[in-house]
Amino acid sequence: MSKIGTGLKGVVLDETRIAFIDGDAGKLVYRGYNIHDLAQHATFEETSYLLLHGALPTRDQLDMFEEDLRNARAIPRSVIDTIDRVKAAHPMDILRTAVSAVTALDESSNDARVDVALPAGVRLIAQVATIVAAMHRMRAGKEPVAPRRDLGHAANFLYMMFGDEPAAEDAKIIDLDLVLHAEHSSNASTFAARVAAGTGADLGSAIVAAIATLKGPFHGGAAEAVQKTVEEIGDPERAVEYIKEKTEAGEKVMGFGHRVYKTEDPRASELRGVAQALGHQKGNDRWFQILTEIERAMEPYRAKGIYPNVDFYAGAVYSLLGIPEEQFIPMFAVGRMPGWVAHVLEQYQDNVLIRPLLEYTGPRHLRYVPIDRR
Ligand SMILES: CC(C)(COP(=O)(O)OP(=O)(O)OC[C@H]1O[C@@H](n2cnc3c(N)ncnc32)[C@H](O)[C@@H]1OP(=O)(O)O)[C@@H](O)C(=O)NCCC(=O)NCCS
Repeated sequence: MSKIGTGLKGVVLDETRIAFIDGDAGKLVYRGYNIHDLAQHATFEETSYLLLHGALPTRDQLDMFEEDLRNARAIPRSVIDTIDRVKAAHPMDILRTAVSAVTALDESSNDARVDVALPAGVRLIAQVATIVAAMHRMRAGKEPVAPRRDLGHAANFLYMMFGDEPAAEDAKIIDLDLVLHAEHSSNASTFAARVAAGTGADLGSAIVAAIATLKGPFHGGAAEAVQKTVEEIGDPERAVEYIKEKTEAGEKVMGFGHRVYKTEDPRASELRGVAQALGHQKGNDRWFQILTEIERAMEPYRAKGIYPNVDFYAGAVYSLLGIPEEQFIPMFAVGRMPGWVAHVLEQYQDNVLIRPLLEYTGPRHLRYVPIDRR
């Protein structure tokens, strides 16, 4: 029997100054600031600055940062053409390909150094939002919408998705959602970015590795799975029975459980009220009622530390804002960009190659058999 904990559970990889998570207390802190404080007061732009620079910006610093983001929003025509060529693929494959293209074309971003990766990271935070909006439209056979300079990051993102200026309250919800997704310590995709950065690879390579890792259902794909579950259940009265069938079949209920949180994910607490109010405002209370019934059915699992995670309410919020399920993981990427970039920068600052061991359990003394004798 091996002594190792598979999945690197509980292994401390390195020190970080970017985020602190207390999984037992349900606490999340970005650079010293509690997530609830940031959710209430900070925009995505301010949060991004905080994550990248380690301190909240002054008014002048924020103005300059927002200007840098606005200046970087447009993506080259060749990247639009690349999206066009792969637009039938899974949205995360399109995003990975487009980010690969946009960073390959950005020759000034090739060096694995903080002074290069920081401005490149700011550009990429802006461009990933543009790419996600463009691919959403192009999959529907529409032309991409050029970014607008007079809108904030979240409002401009919705504008590029749908072609109309969004209601201020809808933009505010997306802004909040992006703040909540901006950073989460050594989650799988950020770990992947740090592993790539640790080899001395450039920022673009590290972000592509992160996007590839975010694709899976145990990480980025859960919000989509939750929304599918809600639609499949259809009626709040069916929720308890549905969950019973799932859990008795040994299946995991999406949107529940977390590698670090053993109580409620503080980001889920932020989104619960938003999902309820937004559902009411859009004349759809049913989804929230179904989610509430699922939560109730999952109460016995609390004894095991299984509580709702951020993805549990995110799917309903996105759907109510008209964002289709297939765009949920790309939305997560739009939000997580500053966290990924901050970790790449931190990795570069005191770099060490990340190279764990595997305990070999296969045979050791086999003799080569020529092919015609096998
Ligand atoms: C996120 C996740 C991978 C964490 O996994 P983990 O840290 O390995 O959790 P564990 O497997 O140690 O969970 C402990 C127990 O709770 C059970 N459990 C965990 N998540 C569960 C879920 N969503 N539904 C039902 N049971 C669950 C496990 O089966 C395990 O049961 P056991 O003790 O009988 O073996 C897992 O909870 C999961 O797959 N959740 C659903 C996907 C999801 O929402 N992902 C988004 C995360 S933000």
